[in-house]
Amino acid sequence: MVQNMEKPIYLDYNATTPVDHEVAKEMIPFIDSLYGNPSSSYSIGRSNKEAVEKARSQVAEMINCNPEEIVFTSCATESNNLAIKGIAWANSDKGRHIITSAIEHPAVTEVCKYLGSKGFEITYIPVDQNGRVDPEKVKEAIRQDTALITIMHANNEVGTIQPIREIGAIARHKNIAFHTDASQSVGKIETDVNKLGVDLLTIAGHKLYAPKGIGALYIRKGTQIENLMHGAGQEKGIRPGTENVMHTIGLGKACEVALRDFKQNQHNMQLSRDRLLDGLVSHLGNKVHITGNLANCLPNTLSLAFDNISAHALASFISSDVLISTGSACHSGETTISSVLQAMDLDFRVAASTVRISTGKRTTEEEIDFAIEVLVKAIKELSL
Ligand SMILES: Cc1ncc(COP(=O)(O)O)c(C=O)c1O
Repeated sequence: MVQNMEKPIYLDYNATTPVDHEVAKEMIPFIDSLYGNPSSSYSIGRSNKEAVEKARSQVAEMINCNPEEIVFTSCATESNNLAIKGIAWANSDKGRHIITSAIEHPAVTEVCKYLGSKGFEITYIPVDQNGRVDPEKVKEAIRQDTALITIMHANNEVGTIQPIREIGAIARHKNIAFHTDASQSVGKIETDVNKLGVDLLTIAGHKLYAPKGIGALYIRKGTQIENLMHGAGQEKGIRPGTENVMHTIGLGKACEVALRDFKQNQHNMQLSRDRLLDGLVSHLGNKVHITGNLANCLPNTLSLAFDNISAHALASFISSDVLISTGSACHSGETTISSVLQAMDLDFRVAASTVRISTGKRTTEEEIDFAIEVLVKAIKELSL
């Protein structure tokens, strides 16, 4: 058994990530001495404005766009709301039809449902058993009045990467605005907005080692969007309100670090994920089932089902040693399967036994070996 290892071992990096030390260090001066309002013209105001603009450039570099195309928000949910409602309201005279997928995060699905209640028509594109959208189905769903396509880049539960480039090419050909929620993909796989062919892209700070409470939305130059909030002119009036300077600086630094260490982080996340899978399979054999398809998956994400195991029972049984999450919820003895697993049309028993394990850029071999030991022991005990 490994000494000096902090427990429980965190293997839920798709839920959130810790703030990087480099990121925290950059933010600290803005807690006390550098307190100016970025809109003030004297020096402590100007230094804050400069810091925000530096962060904008760092974020822009991460996704290969111009800094003016970045708007800072409070979180991915806000970015998605701004993208979807903003495009819907700005284009409502052109059309009131929106295309999305059946496996989006509630931060997209609920926005679409809301617009559905306001007279928009929403088409939900189904996914295959691996959780992948077929671009041909998107093409077929397009109508004269389609105002927006919104399809996530990578799924938070199973890690499936969507064919965004193909869908982007279709959207561009039809001159339809295309948004992708890249909350889970930024820092894990390439997210170049030009290669992806998207007009809007959502970034979530706390999924890439920046603090919680900061996000960004990429809006391609020339895209017509209506702002949701009205106030003074910050963020070009699209997202008014005095800037969250400290967290914005954190997001900027996190993007700089993520870009600098991209290859190394990707390699480490995948290595630890694969080590975990190999370890589990070598002990449990065909009791282990992969939900989704690792050939088309985020490098850090493992969605696994275990024969005759309740995911909920497993996750809580091991929670003092290892932290993972489940694709189902259990309330008053009743199991509810997540909408993602439902859309993948998994057998109920498989879905109810599905757990999500997601590694981080600093996950160590020691942590993985310990997690294997804990999981194998728990699964053997629980399936007795
Ligand atoms: C794909 C995806 N979109 C949006 C969100 C919402 O992020 P936030 O709660 O930070 O707004 C999450 C968070 O888990 C996510 O995974």
